[in-house]
Amino acid sequence: MRTEKGMQIFFEIHSGLPREGPGDSRSTKRAFALLSDLPPEPHVLDIGCGPGMQTLDLARLTRGQIVALDNHQPFLDELSARARRAGLGSRVQAIYGDMEDLPFPRASFDLIWAEGSIYIFGFEKGLRAWKTLLRAGGYLAVKAGGAGERYVLIIQRTR
Ligand SMILES: C[S@@+](CC[C@H](N)C(=O)[O-])C[C@H]1O[C@@H](n2cnc3c(N)ncnc32)[C@H](O)[C@@H]1O
Repeated sequence: MRTEKGMQIFFEIHSGLPREGPGDSRSTKRAFALLSDLPPEPHVLDIGCGPGMQTLDLARLTRGQIVALDNHQPFLDELSARARRAGLGSRVQAIYGDMEDLPFPRASFDLIWAEGSIYIFGFEKGLRAWKTLLRAGGYLAVKAGGAGERYVLIIQRTR
């Protein structure tokens, strides 16, 4: 059961970790290489960014602006501090929000990235809702999988 104390312990254990799920910079880079024809300065949204290892990787892999969204403020503070230290602070915006009620107009992004977070919303509901935020030709890249399952990366492109 998700008690307040349980959540406090969960976040205490998770505090200061580089990331909140499987993966590494190499796999982010490999996945990103599959996205052809992105604009040189894409507008990117990272949903459920956690402390933001992949957010910073995306900022290094593009010259665009990255919006990173999470509903746990300490993760966002960690990400902002890491971005500043890496000299990426001007291109990474960490914002507090709910993935199920995103505060962006339709067709705002060239790329939506979600590692290990879409399951929280529900896979199908997430795809349907988030797709509306993509510009024509934009990409939705999600890493999905549950406990004990293989993680898979799914990339979908809008027409
Ligand atoms: C498994 S972690 C993945 C974090 C990061 N993408 C990674 O791979 O390291 C899931 C993240 O989703 C965030 N989260 C949970 N529910 C959320 C919600 N409703 N809206 C936004 N973020 C949420 C959590 O705080 C956590 O950072």
